[in-house]
Amino acid sequence: KDDIITLAIESSCDETSVSILKNGRTVLSNIIATQIEQHKKFGGVVPEVASRKHIENINFVIGEALEEANVTFDDITHVASTYGPGLVGALLVGLSAAKAIAFAREIPFNGVNHIEGHIYANFIEHQELEPPFVCLIVSGGHTHLVYMKDYGEYEILGKTRDDAAGEAFDKVARALGLGYPGGPEIDKLAKIGDKEAIAFPKAYLEEGSYDFSFSGLKSAVLNYLNSQRMKGNPIVIEDVAASFQQAVIEILVEKTMACAIEKGVKQITIAGGVAANSGLRQLLGKKAEAHGLHLKYPSLKLCTDNAAMIGCVAYYDYIKGYRSSLDLNGIPNLKI
Ligand code: KG4
Ligand code: ZN
Repeated sequence: KDDIITLAIESSCDETSVSILKNGRTVLSNIIATQIEQHKKFGGVVPEVASRKHIENINFVIGEALEEANVTFDDITHVASTYGPGLVGALLVGLSAAKAIAFAREIPFNGVNHIEGHIYANFIEHQELEPPFVCLIVSGGHTHLVYMKDYGEYEILGKTRDDAAGEAFDKVARALGLGYPGGPEIDKLAKIGDKEAIAFPKAYLEEGSYDFSFSGLKSAVLNYLNSQRMKGNPIVIEDVAASFQQAVIEILVEKTMACAIEKGVKQITIAGGVAANSGLRQLLGKKAEAHGLHLKYPSLKLCTDNAAMIGCVAYYDYIKGYRSSLDLNGIPNLKI
């Protein structure tokens, strides 16, 4: 039989994840060991702690992924790992494990760009999905608008000039005294708050630009909180959350729609942790429908970091004939 059975590893940030896939799009297992509890007390990911936790976890997670997929190392024909962007110490754990397996088993290895992985989560969720489409990638570290022409072919239409969308969610959440990660907390509160309560500024940048900037918005929220406190005025955190979230998603939606219309695509996808945001899904879905476009997004588990999406990219690279060498290094600032 010619099935390609990929063992894929993701360890670029605070999730140790291993997935086994059949022919790139059928997920046999997708184990995710999250370190959120370890980083919570610091209000963000501590790189040294992340690397150590990955080292402690990696072998167990590999074992669990094999067991859940009901396969052994003998069945694995292909290995993949994220090699950037991300925290270098964290990246090296998964990358070294993957290279060791490829070397020991004498099987091909593909290093994968994490951002590309987020896009491909959509291929796992939607088996019928094919390029071309415009994809909005919004995570804790990245905000990219990408035109995906074909597998492995991308045109970057815009990206953030300062904070990533998820970073803005996390920082505002922290200022509101909410837990980490902040995105899901703000999402929850926004549902009960008034999104028109406070008019926060939206940075659209120059006419026609598809770039983003969220640091001004973040500062505006912090200034608002400070001035309310100084004046002794009450702060309705549900309203702050809803108004902030609305400002973020209106910019994201407007620019994504403009890109899709300019490129003449019929489909829009979203990816990355912030793609889990219910307000974003709703507003973009509504706008897309009004223009006769289809919006697709991954389930919550596939939105945030996971190894299945990495294995999917590796499969398409593999069938195109690409192979990574075993001296591939981790690249913290790898570009798509
Ligand atoms: O893709 P991801 O798991 O990790 C990175 O590669 O960065 O994204 C994590 C980010 C965090 O900033 C988190 O606050 C945000 O995604 N996030 C959300 C939601 N769920 C996760 N942001 C807004 N709304 C959500 N429901
Ligand atoms: Zn990610």
